[in-house]
Amino acid sequence: MNRNRSYEQREEAASSDYESFKENIKRKTGIDLSLYKEAQMKRRLTSFYEKRGFYSFQEFFNEGITKDEGVLEEFLERMTINVSEFYRNPKRWDVLSDIILPRLSSDTSRLKIWSAACSTGEEPYTLAILLKEKKLVPHYSILATDIDEIILKRARTGLYPERALKEFSNQVVQRYFHKEETGYRISEEIKDKVTYRRHNLLADTYEAGFDLIICRNVLIYFTEEAKQSIYEKFNKALNLGGVLFVGSTEQIFNPDRFGFKTEDTFFYKKVKNL
Ligand SMILES: C[S@@+](CC[C@H](N)C(=O)[O-])C[C@H]1O[C@@H](n2cnc3c(N)ncnc32)[C@H](O)[C@@H]1O
Repeated sequence: MNRNRSYEQREEAASSDYESFKENIKRKTGIDLSLYKEAQMKRRLTSFYEKRGFYSFQEFFNEGITKDEGVLEEFLERMTINVSEFYRNPKRWDVLSDIILPRLSSDTSRLKIWSAACSTGEEPYTLAILLKEKKLVPHYSILATDIDEIILKRARTGLYPERALKEFSNQVVQRYFHKEETGYRISEEIKDKVTYRRHNLLADTYEAGFDLIICRNVLIYFTEEAKQSIYEKFNKALNLGGVLFVGSTEQIFNPDRFGFKTEDTFFYKKVKNL
């Protein structure tokens, strides 16, 4: 009986430890951790702070995050996984290139595109290369955003290890990358097509007038409620006929509720204003 009580007490203490951590993080960074799936987030952050030698969320915040800018940066990096790839899930990019982009370009000379949660830049650069190669539309702009400033700095630098380019043909690598001592740097011509900006999908306002929004492999981290509110905001950010392209585990089960119609697997066309 006593043992049970102490287990419950421990659970309660752990839960209030995380609750006050969430409040502190929101005050310090504006990031609302309660909009991320809790079990997953707690596991990831606990293993991070334990590795750093802290014993609780409170200690992690007071002794780590508030005192050392490096810990705060690493916390942001660990919150979600930053892994990205050029041509991630190639078959989906083929659909984008062969079906979606030709339709979107058929009655306009200018495309406005948003790569949301772009991580280290592989996604917006893949798109810029694809548009350059296909010559579908004479003018296009790509806004690429992420919550993490450090990651955006790496995206702007645009330097990648050779293994990151494995999905590209030699021709494409030669055309759009320059070999340097430490890796391959994306060409200025491609970089110029992409504008990077910090943006928190859960808190900031969304720009409008997009023909295509690519938001892949971040929605899985969010609670159901947060996702639904994002789908509504994506609807408002897209032009009628515009498309939302999501990750390969992020199927929307009731797209019509958010004014979308499935155009292909993981591609949702906006068919009505909300
Ligand atoms: C797994 S990466 C996805 C990268 C790319 N879209 C892809 O699919 O390869 C997830 C990214 O989401 C970003 N992220 C996490 N929470 C975010 C938020 N609330 N708003 C914007 N970006 C966020 C992370 O910083 C990370 O770079």
